[in-house]
Amino acid sequence: MAKLIDGKAFAAGLRTRIAKAVSEVKAKHNLTPGLAVVLVGDDPASRVYVANKAKQTLEVGMNSWEHKLPADTSEQALLALVKKLNADSSVHGILVQMPLPQHIDAAKVLNALDPAKDVDGFHVVNVGRLSTGQEALTACTPVGCVMLAKNTLGDLTGLNAVVIGRSNIVGKPVAQLLLAENCTVTIAHSKSQDLPAITRRADLVIAAVGRPEMVKGDWLKPGATVIDVGINRIERNGKSLLVGDCDFASCEKVAGAITPVPGGVGPMTIACLLQNTLKAACAIAGFAPPHM
Ligand code: GUN
Repeated sequence: MAKLIDGKAFAAGLRTRIAKAVSEVKAKHNLTPGLAVVLVGDDPASRVYVANKAKQTLEVGMNSWEHKLPADTSEQALLALVKKLNADSSVHGILVQMPLPQHIDAAKVLNALDPAKDVDGFHVVNVGRLSTGQEALTACTPVGCVMLAKNTLGDLTGLNAVVIGRSNIVGKPVAQLLLAENCTVTIAHSKSQDLPAITRRADLVIAAVGRPEMVKGDWLKPGATVIDVGINRIERNGKSLLVGDCDFASCEKVAGAITPVPGGVGPMTIACLLQNTLKAACAIAGFAPPHM
């Protein structure tokens, strides 16, 4: 049976280290990092994420602002809010919760953020910096995945990593991060031919395709490490439950280590967001962040 990768515990430890670093920055530099979160519309999952972000931001000693806008907010009004937050010196991180309503051009909004405050790492400048090996604010879920992989496997050099999924939020940035860790990286997706054969070559599987329980145990090389990014709500036996992109029951029999859903990658995302906010605040103020 695979070892369970406890993302919940790892994230709690990271938040404790961040809280210590925040109090150090407050004492030494009289600076309180602040995160502004913008939510447009009332998607129930997004509401839960945003509420959790605000709670954990306050818990590590940072300032938190929530801007909840109605679903019919115009693109122009959202861009005006982004402009205001860019100019506000007490705000060091800005996060615009995705997805945005259809009538708003998400790329336009993301690229309107000051890249120095783009704690999601979605601005083209940060994406470009990541892909050219420069210091960048980097997307939170991918950073969390790589932290868990390194904590499980140690040095990732030379490993075959297969990323299933090619989104801008997870698939593409996690592939860049794994490349920077000297992995041999394959990006596969829902249209790849013979996905099981591709996945069977992997020492490290990152499943971020958004399809419930798609990856089966017989797709895995025995002993592989599996990081499951999926959070899918399904109905089974009349009950609503959360499952990942991996079929946990069959995968845990073959994998060497695997993240559960929930309690794996999920809690890492917000912890990495808080870390990015602290990094952004220090960079804007012109000093190096404390060790975390
Ligand atoms: N929606 C789902 N994941 C994310 C994320 O990491 N950041 C933002 N802004 N929206 C999301």
